[in-house]
Amino acid sequence: MNGPLPADPVEFDERMGAWFVTGYPEAQQVLGDPGTFSSDISPYFPHADRDQAAEDLNAGNLLLMDGAFHRQRRKVLSQAFTPRVVADLEPRITEIVTELADGLAGRDEFDFVEEIAYPLPVTVIAELLGIPATDRKLFAYWADKLMESKIVHYETDPGVDVQAAARAAVAEYLPMMDYLAEHAAGRRRRPGEDLLSRLVHAEVDGERLTDAEITSFGALLLIAGHVTTTLLLGSTIMCLDRYRDAAAAVRRDRSLVPAALEESLRLISPVPGVWRATTRDTEIGGRALPGGQLVTALVGAANRDPRRFADPATYDLTRDPNPHLGFGRGAHFCLGAPLARLEGRIALNILLDRFGDLRTIPDDPPVFHPALDMCGARHLPVRVS
Ligand code: HEM
Repeated sequence: MNGPLPADPVEFDERMGAWFVTGYPEAQQVLGDPGTFSSDISPYFPHADRDQAAEDLNAGNLLLMDGAFHRQRRKVLSQAFTPRVVADLEPRITEIVTELADGLAGRDEFDFVEEIAYPLPVTVIAELLGIPATDRKLFAYWADKLMESKIVHYETDPGVDVQAAARAAVAEYLPMMDYLAEHAAGRRRRPGEDLLSRLVHAEVDGERLTDAEITSFGALLLIAGHVTTTLLLGSTIMCLDRYRDAAAAVRRDRSLVPAALEESLRLISPVPGVWRATTRDTEIGGRALPGGQLVTALVGAANRDPRRFADPATYDLTRDPNPHLGFGRGAHFCLGAPLARLEGRIALNILLDRFGDLRTIPDDPPVFHPALDMCGARHLPVRVS
């Protein structure tokens, strides 16, 4: 967790053909200037053979939109996903965590990701959308394939045809769109109280969202709504395992739970980098960047910039303010941040009540996700002590 920072906060990476921005003020500049750093990076990445389907996949993907179009879509989608909707979830989230913890009674070792960190957010987001949480194995498969489609970023073996592998992975998760389209069609016929029903009936300037937009936004929520929160929960357990004073402090004083979550987001940022493309020639950190180039603002690195965070490698529950970029910044700031924080707060409190201390197992260490776009544990064996 204490890797050195690159000497240069803005570097061109030859292998990926992209600019890496690792400094805090530089990352802030990228995220704060969407006119120069566009979110529409789709032309730079491989598509599946089902091109129309791949296009539909992105029709409601806020992450790839810019300017007024993005603002308008985001406004509609956030109406369907209000703070009230999130706050109303508290009793149900408590119930889910309690059931998951009950299922572990009597066990002194388990995989924290499998038993708690994965099932909690996937159940919450599935219920919110109004799709069966029992299909979660399917969601996990699609999420894995989505991550595999990012192979172009992390495969170093020159013998692997990364474009073909990425296209194959995209084709594997496209059925997710058919799945969501079917559920959305069901809500058109018989509306309910769920988010898909609300999206089906939402309007932008008097016009309904298209089927492709609804299913695509549903897919974004389904994936963004669980994978990242799973990582946050696992990272928090890993941080408390490693920083024992912080673990003791949070056990003594539960008002430190939100600070514990924010420090995990800073120190092991679940989304370590966000992508942009330059729309014109520009300059960051004294480096000249031409237009039409990929840039990744590595928020996970920026969150450890000593120019912004004193003693950045330390998990410090008294860090205040903690302006980490773990949920992004600016126009695309994470729409699900309040939900992720709520799930984290409820889960951590119940886990502290039930298990006291969850420790990693030296002979059976955590297994991390391989993808560059995700950071955190895929498996996290823990012992109750
Ligand atoms: C955007 C991180 C949980 C939905 C983002 C962005 C980041 C992020 C860094 C900005 C991407 C960019 O600027 O390109 C996280 C982390 C989470 C989390 C670390 C958990 C710890 C969630 C949840 C949901 C969600 C629970 C939904 C239920 C979204 C959406 C956007 C987004 C819809 C796109 C917003 C836009 O483009 O306008 N998230 N997220 N996220 N997140 Fe999250």
